[in-house]
Amino acid sequence: MPGADRGALGLVDAEDLGRRLDAVDYLVDTGLATALYLSLALGQPLLLEGEPGVGKTASAKALARALGAPLIRLQCYEGLTADQALYEWNYQRQLLAIRLAESRQEKLTDADLFTEEFLQERPILQAVRHRGPVPPVLLIDEIDRADDEFEALLFEFLGEAAITVPELGTFTAVRPPIVILTSNRSRELHDALRRRCLYHWIEFPAPERAAEILRRSVPAATEPLIAATTDFVGRVRELDLDKAPGMAETIDWVSALAVLGVSELSRHDVVQTLVAITKTADDRDTVIAALDDLGHHERTS
Ligand SMILES: Nc1ncnc2c1ncn2[C@@H]1O[C@H](COP(=O)(O)OP(=O)(O)OP(=O)(O)O)[C@@H](O)[C@H]1O
Ligand SMILES: [Mg+2]
Repeated sequence: MPGADRGALGLVDAEDLGRRLDAVDYLVDTGLATALYLSLALGQPLLLEGEPGVGKTASAKALARALGAPLIRLQCYEGLTADQALYEWNYQRQLLAIRLAESRQEKLTDADLFTEEFLQERPILQAVRHRGPVPPVLLIDEIDRADDEFEALLFEFLGEAAITVPELGTFTAVRPPIVILTSNRSRELHDALRRRCLYHWIEFPAPERAAEILRRSVPAATEPLIAATTDFVGRVRELDLDKAPGMAETIDWVSALAVLGVSELSRHDVVQTLVAITKTADDRDTVIAALDDLGHHERTS
């Protein structure tokens, strides 16, 4: 992709971007700040992978807010097609135009019917054709959920910030959109897709950063509660679980504890509120069985 206009985004360096993200309550480490900054500076899409709930989707939303850029979101799913992701012809309007022409004893040709008037933009074409002082942030979320053939539809866009509509020609972005792709690695992505993107693996936030995220997300939580829960979740993540708790679950859990007026964690509180951090019956059993090892044997109540 051609280089984005860094000047207009007004960013000095990765640290500066980190501060701007902090101002919208998204907290990055140096690795993620640098990856996002390079993606902006080089005008190249960024592919983010990481366990569920590490903040992949939130990063794109925060980036849009931090830059004052519009967010265009494409949620991927099995069976997603070009019609839903790139553009579609408005058949109903074409049909109406044909009927109208017929009623006037006229005949429409393809050249009359496949014009911009009948073109419906879907998120990717919308991002390419966006006009405005700041390029949009395009979030292509959970690309691994789309069928692997879908990835091929993105190559032209990812490589050249362009979309070709055979009937009309090629649309190329005046200013390339900022593109964030996310994947949960439910399947391997094509090398051809990876080649067109920068890549970053997001780790679970380190305890200090997790604590700061909790302070901002759950203002009612006390410091001892935040310390105890971040420590506890860190150790729960080391257990062999079907689904390790992410940041979203941790926030929900601490909110639940705060609502119950808990300021120091006891075994009783943990068991009462496990609904927020364990999402399968097996995981619930595993965590309860491990509670003693996790340091909650002394307070059995
Ligand atoms: N670095 C962070 N700073 C602030 N909040 C964060 C951060 N990381 C995660 N969160 C919080 O955790 C929540 C979950 O993150 P998000 O939904 O983006 O995860 P995800 O990686 O997209 O997960 P999934 O793979 O399940 O879609 C966010 O709504 C946000 O509140
Ligand atoms: Mg997500």
